[in-house]
Amino acid sequence: MVRPFAAGIDGASGGVDPAGVVSERRLSDLRGLFRDAAALERAVGEGDEVVYRVVAAPVPEVEGEVPFSVTTIEAGRVGDEFYMTRGHAHPEPQGEVYFGLSGRGVLLMYDGEEVRWVEIRPGVAGYIPPGWAHRTANVGGEPFRFLAVYPGSAGHDYAIVAEGGMGARVVRSAAGYEVVEEPGGAGPAVREYYRRRKKRG
Ligand code: PA5
Ligand code: MN
Repeated sequence: MVRPFAAGIDGASGGVDPAGVVSERRLSDLRGLFRDAAALERAVGEGDEVVYRVVAAPVPEVEGEVPFSVTTIEAGRVGDEFYMTRGHAHPEPQGEVYFGLSGRGVLLMYDGEEVRWVEIRPGVAGYIPPGWAHRTANVGGEPFRFLAVYPGSAGHDYAIVAEGGMGARVVRSAAGYEVVEEPGGAGPAVREYYRRRKKRG
């Protein structure tokens, strides 16, 4: 069990103090997720920059604890698609709250059939219900930062998103950005994965 503590959350730098685990994802870590694979490989060859960084508070991911972390997604695109997180579902169907700190992003959610999305700005909280996979994209011209707070036993399933997608992509448009649903939808195995979780959630 963690002792009571306070953490400083720096919305301008994405810092958490005290910090626990810090992780970085580069373009090469996001292979297979962007639609334009050739553009991704070019960008990997041109420096393979960091797309996002997650700074976690020192709270373990175990039942009963409530971990929290700050994600910073840099501004950029691969082809027409905005820089984004890998995206995951919680194997234990539990919810999560995101709270905008700086910049502007889209929180994309998918339950195997339906796509929902909300815009996150400073002062805006986004709610991810149990059973919905989630991914964020930076749709602004500066780093997008948000605080995430979630149950410690939720877990992370990245494979279901890598294989089944998010049902939509966040792309550049004349208006700035749009969320474009993917034709076809997920296959039966992916739909069943989400159905099972929603029943339990
Ligand atoms: O708990 C969350 O959902 C977030 O903290 C994410 O883990 C974070 O934004 C990074 O995204 P991903 O875990 O999909 O790489
Ligand atoms: Mn999550």
